[in-house]
Amino acid sequence: MNLLESMIQRAKANKQRIVLPEGSEPRTLQAADRLLRDGVTEIILLGDPQEITTQAKETGLTNVGRATIVNPTEHDQKENYIDLLLELRKKKGMTPEQAARLVEDPLYLACLMIKNGDADGEIAGAQNTTGNVLRPALQIIKTSPGVKVVSGAFIMFTKTPQYGENGILLFADCAVMPNPTAEELASIAIASAQTAKSLVGVEPRVAMLSFSTKGSADHEMIDKVREATRIAKEMNPALLIDGELQADAALVPDVGASKAPGSAIAGRANVLVFPTLEAGNIGYKLVQRLGNAEAVGPVLQGMAAPVNDLSRGCSVDDIYNMVAITANQALGLKQND
Ligand code: ACO
Repeated sequence: MNLLESMIQRAKANKQRIVLPEGSEPRTLQAADRLLRDGVTEIILLGDPQEITTQAKETGLTNVGRATIVNPTEHDQKENYIDLLLELRKKKGMTPEQAARLVEDPLYLACLMIKNGDADGEIAGAQNTTGNVLRPALQIIKTSPGVKVVSGAFIMFTKTPQYGENGILLFADCAVMPNPTAEELASIAIASAQTAKSLVGVEPRVAMLSFSTKGSADHEMIDKVREATRIAKEMNPALLIDGELQADAALVPDVGASKAPGSAIAGRANVLVFPTLEAGNIGYKLVQRLGNAEAVGPVLQGMAAPVNDLSRGCSVDDIYNMVAITANQALGLKQND
């Protein structure tokens, strides 16, 4: 059974409530129909119930009737959610008028449902930008205890079984933090190790990437990666992590042995932590396009409850798979409680 298939099975065995704020978006609706047909999760669709049911009928989506549909402008919990949002954001100067307006925004409503315990995870982004999906989640759901920053990882299914874990690697951060500090980078490394363990099911071996291996060059950007490695080790002494390493030293046993002799990670890494978002985002896309790798993600990590962002070019399959991944993240977080 491949990794995604096993995630789907795990999700089916313990159904999570996944909220889809873009409830009337055609690909989202099709994915919801298939997820309900296959019994992968419970689905909450946000949108105009009339519009959703008409669209489902017209396109022959017979399972959508099993979803819970919530109209953002009119539902039983609206006043409760306004109070909750106000409570959470009053220190930031939010007014009752702003809160009343924002709860009608499906992206805010979805996060409030999760915060209130009415849903277990959210996926959006088929219509909305990454920033618009992330902002309410960062403001309302926030990071899990002990985690400093939210970041985005890709599970890379490469065609090179000699690297990573039989060709599977986790890359981060490829989606959120443009230029993390050393402390933030350490937090990204720890969250990535957790994702590798709980979602990919591998024992993480984390390489902190740079353009230098163990002092082969000197620059403040390299100092940041060294400092991040030190902080991550201090935060989690049991973590298998090393840096700074160049990508070849991290992946290729011979290169690792010659450039970083004695390192437990060099030549064996299965989690690659990039020094900046530029490097991570460019890196995963190059491996995806030039190396024909399948890139699954970004899987957002470090949030107190899972929220995931889709690419606006996503397919129905992408949404389906991301719902299964989100359900697995929700289960993983509950097990860690
Ligand atoms: N982790 C945790 N909290 C965060 C993070 C983070 N990474 N970033 C921001 N926050 C919090 C802030 O502390 C703040 O909280 P507060 O309001 O309670 O004080 C809140 O989120 C809003 O912070 P701002 O800095 O005002 O947020 P901003 O609106 O600038 O945007 C965002 C944050 C959306 C994550 C921004 O950093 C961003 O757009 N990043 C890049 C995303 C992107 O475009 N990625 C590439 C595309 S994805 C792809 O290609 C796969």
